[in-house]
Amino acid sequence: MTSATRKLIIAIDGPSGAGKGTVARALAAALALRHIDTGGMYRAVAWKALRDGVALADEAAIAALARTAVFGLSDGRIAIDGHDVTAEIRTPEIDAAAASVARLPDVRAALVARQRAYGEAGGIVMEGRDIGTVVFPRADVKLYLDASADERARRRAQDAAHAASRDNGGVANVAQALAARDQSDRTRTVSPLTLAEDAVYLDTTGLSIDEVVALALAAIPRT
Ligand code: C5P
Repeated sequence: MTSATRKLIIAIDGPSGAGKGTVARALAAALALRHIDTGGMYRAVAWKALRDGVALADEAAIAALARTAVFGLSDGRIAIDGHDVTAEIRTPEIDAAAASVARLPDVRAALVARQRAYGEAGGIVMEGRDIGTVVFPRADVKLYLDASADERARRRAQDAAHAASRDNGGVANVAQALAARDQSDRTRTVSPLTLAEDAVYLDTTGLSIDEVVALALAAIPRT
């Protein structure tokens, strides 16, 4: 396929609470592309490991699980091996467990291979931490969304999907947990969260969702 006929691959990366999910969904809807939330895949794998009693440090067992799991990713929902886990994976326990399994190289290799398979035909908005750097280094558009730590904690605390985090102790707790997860994501040895050289950096602090979506749309080439 030539670049003129290949459908767009849009990569969105950035830390937790920067608005990747909201922006990815809006772009996918506006451009009629498929949206894949790769964080949901790490979360679902962590959920299944916990449910099956697999130790989070057992890299071989979790990588096998990541290779063989049947994911259902549609209409903003995520299922693993027939269980719809959309709500269950947004808890403080899974926040931490997902960041923990995401540090394991063999688990990442398994999920990156599956993410490439979802996206290779194009027509996709994929969000995560390493999409523009590792999964699709040749993505047509790379966006890196960021916001101040305070604003990210505030957004996360207000996010209905993460109600369990807020109910567990308010914004201060959310801020602390977010900072710990960011630190883990930025310092791990395999595919740490970094800004791709050719990514468009968007600081969304103080911007409304509509303003961020407008900036993101403006970064996308139209044919
Ligand atoms: O994006 P979300 O917060 O749902 O991701 C959960 C965790 O999964 C992150 O904290 C990160 O450790 C991991 N992750 C990753 N690479 C991705 C997406 C998520 O390491 N592409």
